Amino acid sequence: MTILDGKKISNQIKEEIAAEVSQMKENGEKVPHLAAVLVGNDGASLTYVGSKVRSCKKIGFESTLIHLPEDTTEEALLEQVEQLNQDKDIDGYIVQLPLPKHIDEEKVLMAVNPDKDVDGFHPTNFGKMALDMETFISATPFGIMELLRRYSVPVEGKHVVVIGRSHIVGRPISILMSQKGEAANATVTLTHSRTTNLKELTLQADIVVSALGVPEFLKADMVKEGVTIIDVGITRVPDETRERGYYITGDVDFENVSKKASFITPVPGGVGPMTIAMLLKNTLLARERHNSAN
Ligand code: GUN
Repeated sequence: MTILDGKKISNQIKEEIAAEVSQMKENGEKVPHLAAVLVGNDGASLTYVGSKVRSCKKIGFESTLIHLPEDTTEEALLEQVEQLNQDKDIDGYIVQLPLPKHIDEEKVLMAVNPDKDVDGFHPTNFGKMALDMETFISATPFGIMELLRRYSVPVEGKHVVVIGRSHIVGRPISILMSQKGEAANATVTLTHSRTTNLKELTLQADIVVSALGVPEFLKADMVKEGVTIIDVGITRVPDETRERGYYITGDVDFENVSKKASFITPVPGGVGPMTIAMLLKNTLLARERHNSAN
């Protein structure tokens, strides 16, 4: 059994990006600049955005955190987005999700300039991804693909069962793994809350990608011997005995499922760190594309 060590691989990717940034500096070029917009004080979002900004600093990017209050109006947020679209210094930016309930998420994501949409959430970028065109691929599915590639996990011709049809993970990873290319060419089944025979399907799977958000949902009796497991779940489970008051767990009963697996991602330390590395990669790509456009 091989652990797909997202922490290690993400550090390698960050080192590769840092080397490119050093080269940019030496050449007197502008370094990539990522901005993140956070509305409100959701604990997990604060952690994620903090981590993204810290990673930028470490690899030599410029970064800007725009933290707006919970009661920010949709209009004010759209104005902020427009300002970022216009700001020539910003190469790429993200609007951290989820947004407060009074804001229409779709409206905000539609307002992001696709050339700066390093999250790859804009319909233009999602559409390009689905059509095999060059674009920004959302960081989590991009990270999963990169992890599979760097560990040379066999994917071609395999049966992949994806659990969850979210726009951010399930839907895009099902498209990417069925496309032509490295870590792809798979036969993909996309399952969701209305799937009636999930266990029957996961038992047939060579690879399971779980993006459900239900702690330890996938049990050992649901997978076959030699399976590859990609666990995208990150859930905070309340636990008074821990200093933070919670612990982090994935969608997979790691202890038992890992005994049957040939490859498996841990939580934490699997897909999560890869997501951040690929966001940085997208920001570097945005800078390079802006350079070549000027
Ligand atoms: N919320 C959960 N994952 C993500 C992500 O990848 N990007 C943004 N902007 N928000 C998220």
